[in-house]
Amino acid sequence: MRPLVASIDLAAVRHNYAVAKRCAPGRQAFAVVKANAYGHGLREVVTVLADDADGFAVACLEEAAQVRAMHDSARILLLEGCFEISEYRMAAQLQLDVVLHSVVQVEQLLASELARPVNVWLKLDSGMHRLGLDEAALRDCHARLEGAAQVAELNLLSHFACADERGHSVTELQLERFLDVLDLPFDQRSLANSAAVLMIPAAHMDWLRPGIMLYGASPFAELSAAELGLQAVMSLTAELIAVREIAVGETVGYGAGWQAERPSRIGTVSCGYADGYPRHAPAGRPSGLQVPACRWWGGCRWICSRLI
Ligand SMILES: Cc1ncc(COP(=O)(O)O)c(C=O)c1O
Repeated sequence: MRPLVASIDLAAVRHNYAVAKRCAPGRQAFAVVKANAYGHGLREVVTVLADDADGFAVACLEEAAQVRAMHDSARILLLEGCFEISEYRMAAQLQLDVVLHSVVQVEQLLASELARPVNVWLKLDSGMHRLGLDEAALRDCHARLEGAAQVAELNLLSHFACADERGHSVTELQLERFLDVLDLPFDQRSLANSAAVLMIPAAHMDWLRPGIMLYGASPFAELSAAELGLQAVMSLTAELIAVREIAVGETVGYGAGWQAERPSRIGTVSCGYADGYPRHAPAGRPSGLQVPACRWWGGCRWICSRLI
């Protein structure tokens, strides 16, 4: 068997979700489990959070259906909304919370005949400039959706661009723009991703949307996960599958990216970018890499990922 194993510590997911909740007492939190729970396993993460999470946030209907099959009462937020008009009926059947980030989506929802109304999250483009309505369009859409037969709750959502850089002026601007539309009647409001959950209490609103912090990673370059009280969820272990001696001046790896300045013993681990190891990781030992009991020799100077 190839000696490369990604271990997932599901207890750490529960711990990290509890950290998010402790940051904002009294608020609810969608555990962001999109993209197969950031690669950690949707089924496993939803199962371990089943009793704790107030809701789950996913990227598409297929993921939502998987979560609904495991959890018949959780709120499930479709972060990008529906991709075509036919999906609204399914969203209603699955009792999803649906983001509407464009006028087209608003019109498609209003043109749909649904078995039951859905909770709608109107997305404000507060400054990220990827998805969302500007203020004028949002006000217009709010008026069209208020009281519509397809709408249960009418909610407001936006997403930060720079919350992971503390004190960034864009974050302040985004918060202001969010607050500016709160003269409209909304049932629920949601703004905070992980960075804002951890550092911006004014952005907590009614529903948090922690993603990366659930998996034990810090959103901040200058603060470690441990400093934030987070526990790592994934650990990757491997064995050296070859060790060789390299003479001074010889190079190692793709692009001949590392050159021996002295006679060097080189260990190769069977793990590369096809496995998800960053293609452009710098040479040398990545932070967090531990070399426990090397059966070859404890003193290899460099652990090289074999880039396959
Ligand atoms: C709309 C939305 N909310 C929340 C999140 C979670 O963000 P983070 O992983 O920074 O916590 C994401 C992730 O991309 C997102 O797209």
